[in-house]
Amino acid sequence: MQVFLDTYATEGIRPEIAREVLSSYSQAVFAKAISAEESRITVAERNGHLIGFAQVTFSANHSLAPAGAQAELLRLYVQESFTGAKVGTALLAEAESIACLEGATVLWLTPWVHNQRALAFYSRRGYTDFGLTYFTFEGESHENRVLAKSLAVPNAA
Ligand SMILES: CC(C)(COP(=O)(O)OP(=O)(O)OC[C@H]1O[C@@H](n2cnc3c(N)ncnc32)[C@H](O)[C@@H]1OP(=O)(O)O)[C@@H](O)C(=O)NCCC(=O)NCCS
Repeated sequence: MQVFLDTYATEGIRPEIAREVLSSYSQAVFAKAISAEESRITVAERNGHLIGFAQVTFSANHSLAPAGAQAELLRLYVQESFTGAKVGTALLAEAESIACLEGATVLWLTPWVHNQRALAFYSRRGYTDFGLTYFTFEGESHENRVLAKSLAVPNAA
């Protein structure tokens, strides 16, 4: 919730954002995601405290991403106080390995067009922009980019 609000509530909080964050980031939603076969959450901890996580969903397809066995990087969140310390780089590498081990050949994600820091981060890590998509919540539509990267096949010569 903290990372979501830091990232997306750039003009403050209004009822639509409050409802979205309370419904999508509840304990129940995460308990379900942690136990789901089709997704994997990797956490970064420091001194017994959660400071970031990456969430990958397998067999999630996007028509704009390159053809192949696709997986989605649904979230990569690092708490603001711990950004810039390579936690995001480590979580992304782990998310890519997990996707690869599950048979994915393409990892895609849809960052917000105004999230310049994230767009630059992924670009520097080999992700290509495949076009525009929309994230819809509470009847609002927000422009996102479709980024994707081809994953190395394990044990490939
Ligand atoms: C995008 C994000 C995952 C990156 O994680 P991170 O732990 O900061 O990443 P790293 O420390 O590994 O790398 C950060 C890079 O940004 C650079 N950077 C520039 N300004 C920065 C800033 N104010 N804070 C942090 N990093 C900054 C770092 O120097 C580094 O550069 P590099 O790509 O040349 O290595 C993290 O900022 C985050 O969780 N943001 C909020 C949520 C979000 O936007 N998630 C992505 C949504 S799709």
